[in-house]
Amino acid sequence: MTTPLGANISRVDGRVKTTGAARYPADYRETDTATAVLVTSTVGLGRITGMDTDAATQAPGVIAVYTPFAPLRLEPVDPSALGENYRPLQDQEVRFRGQAIGVVVADTFEHARDAAAMITASYDERAPRTSLADAGAGVSMPAEASGNTTILAPGVGSIDSALGSSEVTVDITVSQQAQHAAAMEPHASLAVWNGDQLTMYTGTQFPGRAVVGLTGALGLRPDQLRIISTYVGGGFGSRVLPWADAVLAAAAARELRRPVRLVLSRTQVFTVVGHRSAVRQRIRLGARADGTLNAVSHESDSEAPAVGGWPMRTAADTSAVLYRTPNLHVDQRQVTLDTPPTWATRAPNEAPGGFAIETAMDELAIATGVDPVELRLRNYATVVPGTDRRWTSKRLDECYRVGAARFGWNRRAAPGTTRDGQWLVGMGMATAIYPASGRAENAVRVRFRDDGTVLAQSGTMDIGTGSATALAIVVADALGLPMDRVAVEVGDTALPPGAGAVGSRATGSLAPTARTAARAAVAQLVEAAGTDPNSPLAESDTPVTYDAGMLRSANADIPFADLLRGLGRSEIEATHADENIMVPYAAHGFGAHFCEVRVNSFTGETRVSRFTTVVDIGRVINVKTARSQVVGGVIFGIGHALLEANPIEPSGRMAAANLADYVVPVNADVPFIDAVCLDGDDPDFSEVGARGVGELGVVGSAAAIGNAVFNATGIRIYDLPIHPEKLLR
Ligand code: MOS
Repeated sequence: MTTPLGANISRVDGRVKTTGAARYPADYRETDTATAVLVTSTVGLGRITGMDTDAATQAPGVIAVYTPFAPLRLEPVDPSALGENYRPLQDQEVRFRGQAIGVVVADTFEHARDAAAMITASYDERAPRTSLADAGAGVSMPAEASGNTTILAPGVGSIDSALGSSEVTVDITVSQQAQHAAAMEPHASLAVWNGDQLTMYTGTQFPGRAVVGLTGALGLRPDQLRIISTYVGGGFGSRVLPWADAVLAAAAARELRRPVRLVLSRTQVFTVVGHRSAVRQRIRLGARADGTLNAVSHESDSEAPAVGGWPMRTAADTSAVLYRTPNLHVDQRQVTLDTPPTWATRAPNEAPGGFAIETAMDELAIATGVDPVELRLRNYATVVPGTDRRWTSKRLDECYRVGAARFGWNRRAAPGTTRDGQWLVGMGMATAIYPASGRAENAVRVRFRDDGTVLAQSGTMDIGTGSATALAIVVADALGLPMDRVAVEVGDTALPPGAGAVGSRATGSLAPTARTAARAAVAQLVEAAGTDPNSPLAESDTPVTYDAGMLRSANADIPFADLLRGLGRSEIEATHADENIMVPYAAHGFGAHFCEVRVNSFTGETRVSRFTTVVDIGRVINVKTARSQVVGGVIFGIGHALLEANPIEPSGRMAAANLADYVVPVNADVPFIDAVCLDGDDPDFSEVGARGVGELGVVGSAAAIGNAVFNATGIRIYDLPIHPEKLLR
């Protein structure tokens, strides 16, 4: 039988999703469900002095109104347990504009929404700090948490002197505004209490962390909470931790003793849920005339909201690991602002970091006259800079060569010299890199059933990446069964604990665990076949073996379903759990992006016309979904380079808190993307050899586009996104 491992397999949940049968949290129906709507603050900073809820309380269908003056009870929890470090409604402070300051519960959504609109608040208002651009340098993050470092060659006194003594230098500063996950499904929860047991239907990427946050805020033991998150309409970081909406839905349902559904409005998703911090980065490169790097310096300032959020490490997995250099300086700093919480968003650190370093490398290529691909090969790192740590496996050089050949990189011309009618045409490239350091703890159960099928279960969440399909593939491969005999269940904390779908680690962590669990289940089956007196194989002189769903011995050869029926057992199963495993080497996903753009010489409009990305991710479990991840990452790169930005106004208001003004790429913005996964293995990473792929394509794709825009026009835009008016100036 041919194994599905490494083949082109359609998603196991493809049909239920495309037919609309898949149920997302807001689709569940419970008798007597009430609907909650949040009320949010309309000033950027200050104190609520009063709220008028009279009209709302008397409005049709209203069941309850909660505010800081009539709060829902919440427990204090560790500040890192929830996305934001404050508990909603527990005090009168307004920390950012768009913060949850009230909840209206009514019999229908329309009644709750209309009543929420009747609530007014008065404030003691202060001026918020909102502008990263106006702020000076931030505070350096602690080295142990951030990877901030300075490595100097013997005899070199400082990074500045290393740069100063270089034959060629590049010094650029790039900036970008707040970005958002903008997942398709708005954050939604249905909270159902049964006595003191809570079932939460809510989207999460990280069941273990979601349980900690929700049980902490509600004062529950872990065994009192079950989270059902079978289908998730996109995570991109925004569902790593629970936010105020989920906590308030659960607390209201407890108070009212009936199920409560709370779905954020699209505008509320922009502020209640964390965003990718605005960030400003300075890159300085020093090199010899032939392009060989002598010094790399990467400094960044990012938002550190007073309400907490994601500490952005722009350089730790980009400039600090990408190229061989004797002198390296990384200083990642944070600037405290009164903005909504920041959070991990689509390669949270690496996407902005990759844009900065790969833009600077393009400038170094121009300054030295070395081809951009050749420049990167000339500075190829075989160990992590400043250390003797090699990688588990690294085939980035092959990614460059294969990508360049597929794309036709050798047809690239000098900047501003290729014209097609009114369009200026250009090509650019950049490197993709994303950490794959280690595997997350997780558990998988594999169950042989008497109908001849196998069920594989893990409490991991498939947020659209294809991890559930990967689970089925690995188990089918390990058992020698076709895909249609393996069913999977994921997305439920009642299942064996799963890996978080974060940091591109779920599938790479799950795969070796699933293979071991499958082998353990086979061992159980073989044991029963050889020893159970009811087994037709029990009397055999030869040991029982398992092969492709069959149990064999000298005197018989039977399918496992027959064995189970003969034994009078409906199932035989085994569960295997793995701890967190750190490999003793560096581990990253690698890739090379090649991009062609067409820039309209009259309007400044940029169209991405061709894109080739080649990635090295070790073993490819499923070509189809791995390619889809890369394609999605490149689409995020198109958004990053050309479209996505949310300016935060001096009042603290997000200027683009809706999907009309916060512009993301749509089909018409996206050409065919030639995404290729090198076929490989990585035994030093895991027994299956599959590293992550999720976020890899996001990193560097924006730089490839910016570099192509420069090649087309001779104009470099340092402040993203590359809007037409910037090119026309
Ligand atoms: Mo991802 S931004 O690690 O959820």
